[in-house]
Amino acid sequence: MKNIILIGFMGVGKGSVAREIVKHSDYVAIDTDDIIESMENRRIKKIFSQEGEAYFRDLERKVAKWLTKGVRGTLISTGGGFYKVPHLEKIGTVVLLHSDFDSIYERIITHPNAKQKLKKRPLFQDLEKARALYDERETAYQKLAGIVIDVTGKSVETIAKEILKKVKS
Ligand code: S3P
Repeated sequence: MKNIILIGFMGVGKGSVAREIVKHSDYVAIDTDDIIESMENRRIKKIFSQEGEAYFRDLERKVAKWLTKGVRGTLISTGGGFYKVPHLEKIGTVVLLHSDFDSIYERIITHPNAKQKLKKRPLFQDLEKARALYDERETAYQKLAGIVIDVTGKSVETIAKEILKKVKS
């Protein structure tokens, strides 16, 4: 059984969708940011501030190698920059959660924990820089994705069911 890899921009809802897929299937879910945080025993924010982004990207590549070698039949949610690892497609079926930047931002700031959601993301500290990063990445995401799901305005349940249907067919 192939893995499912959820990719997409920060705050698009990869984690929430993964948790919803788990509810409606036998998949067990793991998250690349969670794996990195437990490997390092510190938060992503700390890793960025103490070691810099390049160090974090090295960890993502290390996790990608491990996933490619040994993980099967698993639902993998990823950090927004994980798509840069070499040969993402070897890990499994790449599913892009797509939305426009303004809807993603809206989703973050209307969350009950909005402050926390923004604070933990070093690359979302400046709105215009985040928007530029979105513009830069969107085409790359689309190119890598085997399946693209437009998540704008949809409930997590609808998105999860749509993904499960598409990976089965
Ligand atoms: C990043 C996204 C973050 C996290 C790190 C870098 C990125 O994950 O991996 O802060 O480069 O887009 P989320 O997509 O869960 O916010």
